[in-house]
Parts: sequence; C-alpha cells; structure tokens
Amino acid sequence: MHTKALLAALLAPAAVSAQLHELAVRAGLQYFGTALREGALNSDAQFAAILRDTREFGQIVPENGQKWESTQPSRGQFTYSQGDITANEAKRNSQFLRCHTLVWHSQLPSWVASGSWTRATLTSVIDTHMANVMGHYKGVCGHWDVVNEAINDDGTWRDSVFYRVFGTDYLPLSFELAKKHDPETKLYYNDYNLEYNQAKTDRAVEIVRIIQAAGAPIDGVGFQGHLIVGSTPSRANLATTLRRFTALGVDVAYTELDIRHSSLPASSQAQVTQGNDFANVVGSCLDVPRCVGVTVWSFTDKYSWVPSTFNGAGDALIYDSQFRKKAAWTSISSVLAAKATGAPPVSSSTSTPAQPTTTLVTRTTSASSTTQPTPTSAPTQPAQVRWGQCGGNGWTGPTTCQSPYTCQVLNPWYSQCL
Ligand code: G3I
Repeated sequence: MHTKALLAALLAPAAVSAQLHELAVRAGLQYFGTALREGALNSDAQFAAILRDTREFGQIVPENGQKWESTQPSRGQFTYSQGDITANEAKRNSQFLRCHTLVWHSQLPSWVASGSWTRATLTSVIDTHMANVMGHYKGVCGHWDVVNEAINDDGTWRDSVFYRVFGTDYLPLSFELAKKHDPETKLYYNDYNLEYNQAKTDRAVEIVRIIQAAGAPIDGVGFQGHLIVGSTPSRANLATTLRRFTALGVDVAYTELDIRHSSLPASSQAQVTQGNDFANVVGSCLDVPRCVGVTVWSFTDKYSWVPSTFNGAGDALIYDSQFRKKAAWTSISSVLAAKATGAPPVSSSTSTPAQPTTTLVTRTTSASSTTQPTPTSAPTQPAQVRWGQCGGNGWTGPTTCQSPYTCQVLNPWYSQCL
C-alpha cells in the first residue's frame, strides 16, 4: 500500500459503528475495559466522555486510588477519596468494576514496608486492611487483585516484606482473608511478563497450586500485558500460556494491557505492527473460553505510565494523545468483529463450553447487558462508505466501496475504504 494512503488511514477516524465493549460482548467476552487515571476525570472532558461511553468500555479499574498508600497511608487512617472516584464512576455508568490491589510490595506505605513484624502482627495488619478496604467496596467490586506481582522476572520470589515474614504462606493467607471480607468478589493473582511462558510463568502456575493446595480460594489470574511492539508473542502462544492456568480451574484476564513502542515517533509500519500485536493479545483471549475480558491500562497516550518509566518509549495505547483512534483500536475492533460475526477462530478451543457471564449481571447493573451491539455485517451489503471496513479475517460485511474509494488492506484484520 502507498505510504501516503496508509498514513491517511492510520490518522483517520475509523467508521466501524460498533465500539470495543459491545463487540467484545458479542464475541463472547464479559467486558472490554480501561484503567481510570483519577486526576484526569474532572480535568479533561474528552477523557471523561470516552471513559463514560459504555459501548466502548464496559469495565473500569482505578489506576492508583485503591492501592495501600492511597487507602491507608498511616496506620489506622483509612481514606477512600481517590478510590471512590472510580467506584462512583462505575456506579454512575453501570460499568463493571475491577478493584486493584491489596497485597503488593509497591505503593506500600513505609509503615508497612519497613515495619518490624511477626507472622501474627503482619497477619493482623493485612486482615485490618482488607476488613476496611474490602468492606468499603463490598458488593461493588466484581474482581479484586488480591496479591500483585509476587515474582521477579527470573522466576524467583520477590523479596517483599510479606515474603520475608511469611515465605509463600502469605499467598494462601491473603486469599483466605480476602474471601472472609468479600465472599462474592472474584479473587485474582495479578502479574506482568507472564505472557512469555518462561520461568516467571512457571512460578505463577506454582502460586495457583500453592493456594489451592492450602485449601484457599482463587478465582483468576490477571495477565497484566505490559508488552513491547514487535516482541509480543503470537496469538497461538499467548493462548497456550493462558490455558496453563485455565487447566487449573481458574479464569484468566488481560488486566493492564498496553504495548509500547521502544522509540518514538513510531513509524506508520510500527503502528501497524502495534495493531497486530494488540489483535494477537485480544485474539488469544477470544480463543480461551475462561478468558473473561481485556482491560487496557488507560486508553489514551495522553495518560500512560510508560514514558515516565521507560525513557524514550511510549505511545502504548489505543487512542493517541489527541483522542484519535489508532491502528491499534482498529485492529482490536476487527478481531472482535471477526469473532462476533461467527468467523472460525484462528486457534482451536471451541469445543469447551462457553463461560458463564453471571458475575457481571449480578454484581453490577451489568456490563454485559448494557449494550446490544449493532451487527457489523449482513448477507447482502451496499457498498461501504469512505473510512468504513471492507475486509479482513472473518469480515462478512461489504467488500466494495462507494465511488471513488477503493478497499485497501491495512492489516490481516482490517481493510478500509479509502
Ligand atoms: O499523586 C502524586 C502527585 O501528587 C505527585 O505530584 C506526583 C509527582 O511525581 O506523583 C503522583 O503520584 C504518582 C502516581 O502514579 C499517581 O499518578 C507516582 O509518582 C507514580 O509513581 C505513580 O505511578 C503509578 C505506578 O503504578 C506506581 O507503581 C502509575 O500511575 C500506575 O499506572 C502504575 O500501575 C502499575 C499497576 O498498579 C501494577 N502493574 C504495573 C503498573 C505499571 O507500573
């Protein structure tokens, strides 16, 4: 494709009528969601408008507001002003709420991280924290990330205050206590770099086994999905990795997805690669029946944790910093539309029964029931309008374009009238 035409396509607003959450539900997922950057909600109307579009995002999660340093900065001093921003928003918009996070070495106040604890005293500290925070959000959190990032990248145990005091016993202990304080929410272990199916992934499998062997409850494993353009595993390999966990009887979800460019500005080719990487991640979730949903870690490049952590890297999300949909958005919508319209999945997993979606229905006014997606195809279609989709894997809609536009292939999932 001519570079000029490709650039025009990448910068153009996509004209696919359906949005990501409604397509995700139609494709069999429970939700497509986003993290909420607390400071942006009241200061940025464009951010708020997209976040509140429940056709786009059926689920939200606080980026920082429910963490220990936000909710109990000093011992016994509980404050929910930041966490409530997202909880109130979920209620206002009838969006499913993921809650994040309880037992984590980071954003942990120094009174916990540097305290001198015995097993009994630290158990009491965790119990009190959960009693208050989970109690405050009882009945509104569909999922809770109970333990976050317990493993180093080489697969060894992370040297947190929790590990130093308890060894691995804090894992089942945390899940038991969480169950006590909110018996209805789904309890998740959540970590990054599990996607590569290496030593860290092996250890996460061990975590699930440790918790289950102790008789403690665990409902799911969150794959954070902080990935790199061009280095993201294939759809098939990602699905294989997800299945290692679902084989243990737990759900899986992508909980913090972003795929960063290593250097900026990203070329048009790099943007297409990023789109393909996003499609592989979302596609792998579609291929695994107990993969319940996908959450991006904020949706706009205007608000992302990436540039401040990885110098020179960024543009990791699905809208650009001016809130224009990127090629990544288009690729995700296309892979969801392909599944939603009945195209055969790339990987085999269709023989397993579909997952229940009752959690969303019972815990909120229902992310899965908020929308009835508009079908994206019909047996006979008129010629597609300018910018509309006209092809791609699984696409069964119009394949011709209104004059003078022609159908141009942007990636395997998406061709567009340009
Ligand atoms: O709120 C203060 C503000 O008052 C102050 O002026 C400013 C100065 O730097 O800092 C603000 O706090 C920042 C906070 O985000 C809120 O924006 C912290 O410095 C900053 O370190 C913190 O970063 C967060 C990071 O977790 C901390 O580990 C990111 O926003 C957040 O996206 C990131 O999220 C984590 C997930 O929770 C777990 N998985 C990895 C993921 C990415 O690191």
